[in-house]
Amino acid sequence: MSRENPDTVVEVRDLSVQRNGIDVLEDITFSVRHGQFIGLVGPNGAGKTTLLKALLGLIPVTRGSIRVLGAPPGDRAYDAHGIGYVPQRQEIGRNFPATVADIVMMGRFCCMGPLSFPRKKDWLHVKRTLALVGLEHLAERSIGQLSGGELRRVTLAQALCASTRLLVLDEPTIGLDLPAEHEFYALLAKLKADLGLTIIAVSHDLVALGGRADELICINRRMHIHGNPEDVVHSHAIREAYSCEFSFLAGELAHHEGVRPHDGPAHSHDEDTPGRDDGHGDK
Ligand SMILES: Nc1ncnc2c1ncn2[C@@H]1O[C@H](COP(=O)(O)OP(=O)(O)OP(=O)(O)O)[C@@H](O)[C@H]1O
Ligand SMILES: [Mg+2]
Repeated sequence: MSRENPDTVVEVRDLSVQRNGIDVLEDITFSVRHGQFIGLVGPNGAGKTTLLKALLGLIPVTRGSIRVLGAPPGDRAYDAHGIGYVPQRQEIGRNFPATVADIVMMGRFCCMGPLSFPRKKDWLHVKRTLALVGLEHLAERSIGQLSGGELRRVTLAQALCASTRLLVLDEPTIGLDLPAEHEFYALLAKLKADLGLTIIAVSHDLVALGGRADELICINRRMHIHGNPEDVVHSHAIREAYSCEFSFLAGELAHHEGVRPHDGPAHSHDEDTPGRDDGHGDK
């Protein structure tokens, strides 16, 4: 468990979650080590957002256990450290009367006591965080006057204000064009290196994520496969999860910059089947 291994940031064991009485996640087990970038993939409705919300303690667990930064979700000990969360649907209205700094400060509320107001040190923290994402010059800009890419960096800064240890990002690049997406992932890589961040990111774009993540986890209600991106993309398990062929992805991934050399087998979640496509039902 996490307390026994300080290198483990997230530990999920036999996790099941129900929504409206229906099993949305079943028997999910994995762990994330300090400083890893984990890509979480799976088809629409697979339970990716549900898994992130369970990690954050926003929805209850039906069975199994979760430990994040050494404590169960909702425990004050880790709330105080915080998890940075960029949700899938960002509800910041373009007409919301707030500046960039105001929005980023909202990420700091979890670290302030109840009924506290932001103090000078909190505004300094916001300023430093905006500098980390390259938006210091836009601190006083109205939130409605930003480009889509800038807005993504604001929500990233808001998440960083809550935690510089663990970031959980749900479809953070959706709606961005390719250069903006590239820039966003480059920023994440820099933050990971500079701050020693641990990152869990959900994306539909297997190639973009596979080219950048240290490991991919593929779920579709159950765990299908967890391993290095190359193995995962080549696996039979991922085709099963998406119920379609993905052979073209292997070639795409090979050409993608940042793909690491093969550094170990993926963990397929069938009892005895490795991650490579050997045709033996690695589910
Ligand atoms: N609040 C809720 N009440 C009931 N069912 C829900 C609720 N939220 C999600 N679900 C159901 O749980 C399942 C998983 O949803 P979830 O949003 O976690 O999937 P996802 O993998 O994030 O999908 P997408 O890629 O479309 O974002 C879906 O069948 C969804 O309808
Ligand atoms: Mg989702």
